[in-house]
Amino acid sequence: MGFFGNLFKSKPKLEHEQTIKSPNGRISCEVKLKLGQLVYSVKKDEKVILRESGLGINIQGEQPLKQGLMIVRIQSRTNDDTWATIVGEQRVIHNHYNETAFYLSETTENGRLITVRFRVFDDGVAFRYEIPPQPRFQRLIISDELTEFNVDSNSNAWRIPAYQPDRYEYDYEKRPVYALSSSVHTPLTIETPLGHFISIHEAALYDYGSMTIKLNSLNRLQSDITPLSDGMKAYVELPFNTPWRVVMIGDSPIELVVNHIVLNLNEPPKQDFSWVKPLKFIGIWWAMFVGEWTWAPGNRHGATTEHAKEYIDAAKRLGIEGLLIEGWNNGWEGDWLQNGATTNYTTPVSDLNLDEVAKYAAKNGIKIVGHHETVGFIDNYEKQMEEAYKYYADRGITYIKPGYAGSMMTIQGRKEFHHSQAGVRHYQKAIELAAKYHICLDVHEPIKGTGIERTWPNFLTREGARGQEYEGGALSPSHATILPFTRLLAGGMDYTSGIFDVTNVTKRLASTLARQLAYYVTIHSGMQMAADRPRFYEEVQPSAFEFIRKVPVNWERTIPLLGKIGEYYVVARRDRDSEDWYIGGVTNEEAHRVRLNLDFLDDGATYTAEIYRDSDTAHYRDNQLGITIETRKISSNDYLDIWMAPGGGFAVRLTKI
Ligand code: NOJ
Ligand code: CA
Repeated sequence: MGFFGNLFKSKPKLEHEQTIKSPNGRISCEVKLKLGQLVYSVKKDEKVILRESGLGINIQGEQPLKQGLMIVRIQSRTNDDTWATIVGEQRVIHNHYNETAFYLSETTENGRLITVRFRVFDDGVAFRYEIPPQPRFQRLIISDELTEFNVDSNSNAWRIPAYQPDRYEYDYEKRPVYALSSSVHTPLTIETPLGHFISIHEAALYDYGSMTIKLNSLNRLQSDITPLSDGMKAYVELPFNTPWRVVMIGDSPIELVVNHIVLNLNEPPKQDFSWVKPLKFIGIWWAMFVGEWTWAPGNRHGATTEHAKEYIDAAKRLGIEGLLIEGWNNGWEGDWLQNGATTNYTTPVSDLNLDEVAKYAAKNGIKIVGHHETVGFIDNYEKQMEEAYKYYADRGITYIKPGYAGSMMTIQGRKEFHHSQAGVRHYQKAIELAAKYHICLDVHEPIKGTGIERTWPNFLTREGARGQEYEGGALSPSHATILPFTRLLAGGMDYTSGIFDVTNVTKRLASTLARQLAYYVTIHSGMQMAADRPRFYEEVQPSAFEFIRKVPVNWERTIPLLGKIGEYYVVARRDRDSEDWYIGGVTNEEAHRVRLNLDFLDDGATYTAEIYRDSDTAHYRDNQLGITIETRKISSNDYLDIWMAPGGGFAVRLTKI
């Protein structure tokens, strides 16, 4: 770690210009103090990524902290080190950047202070506001953040709308930036007219409203921080640092995908997390979606002692370590979406003996994944949360899937957005409490990922986009070709892959069978579900299931191979615990043939390739089950030619001989 501070102890600066370059020199971030305002712009290889963009914060009851500023100190340093993830798509992560912090003060007698800290990486730019304790106050209310991201308005963006009842669970739509007049979520991935692929996002979101983006009155993209129910954006105690504002930059969609800035901007863990383990699990789950079973008690109740034991036996036979049990507790009777205010998290329903099931699971070496559906009723949940975590922990249950269905959260009697400061605080409370009980979480209807799993590795995965529960009409094949370039830049996702009953009349998938296997590689997740009912694995498609049984959850390295947003995506990943490689590919509604260069394999080594691909006549509409499974020998000099059917995909396992 180098340090080359250049503090000027002399006179404050009223005008200033400084360029911060990325370690390889290709990205430059120019920061200017002009007429008392700090602005920044970004270029890559001398081509404009962001034109001059404004910075600033509005404070309730005060003048905006934006104008009349002077620089009192500038401090620069370089960081160049590596660190290792416990679970993730890459074990060793390189954290290399040049940093400059601008310490600002107002020129007026008001004299308020603010620092803007920039970090420039080889694959993007990040900055945050730091508000130190002020001469006049120790806490403040942020009523707005005025951060601009001035991209060319002719750029195209893949957006999902913000402030909608289904949170992040929307279809991505490709729209020109000039059409983004209402707020959209981040990561907001954009293709610029010069051919760069960028994604605007944030890192280390703590105790603040999450950032959405929309055009401001100057027709520039600007941060729109999710408000609390009183319209304010955040109540903060000083000193306070905002989350990092991040612009990831790649020359191609594939280059954008190998971006670790968001994780790098988070702090290393402050406690031991060596107990965190990734997990593959089946669930008393899809049977409810297809109407075979119900969450609610009754004659088709899913979460009974008998079913749980059957599923534990099946998990053991299948070689899957975990079992999710939903609908196990009081709260599912009638319309469960209405029950959140009274749900109880420590009372199993009468036909489920949780103690017996937990003992049976332990005896068979199966981990139970507990379930807490809060429907967003945080007041009720927080009253019970510690007791509820302890209840599970006492029974050896160390994985929980909390859910926050419901269009708003109820917090202190008010309706709040999931992604408001109030929501962010709740999710944080949950993850910290889970850590206390050595519990790992798979959060559904979560707060978006901002890399905090670096600090809290027990945040194993989350949903936070449309997953396969939307199949049966509301998912198009292009969705899974967009996620890697958008949502997955925010971290892993529980997509609930591996539905083999693709032709089910109630929930028919826009997918071939082979594509269900591809997802285990294209969509990384610290907890991977094999989401269908066990009989589809054991009896209906045992050969295809072999891939799910073998595919790892935790990766050593990830190499995206090919991709075009909304069209296709192919990625290779190396297992963390062996020298085996896995490749997954998905396409949209068009068939797509790929010829894969395998030069990432060890030179001169031979591998056995188990290939699971669409048969020559497969199609997501009328031949979903057409799958070809074949084995061949292959080396790093070979190419792999694979055809993906419309709505199809493939998965390959390469074991070194
Ligand atoms: C929505 C979640 O995404 C799904 O997985 C869960 O089964 C239901 N809520 C019920 O909790
Ligand atoms: Ca959901």
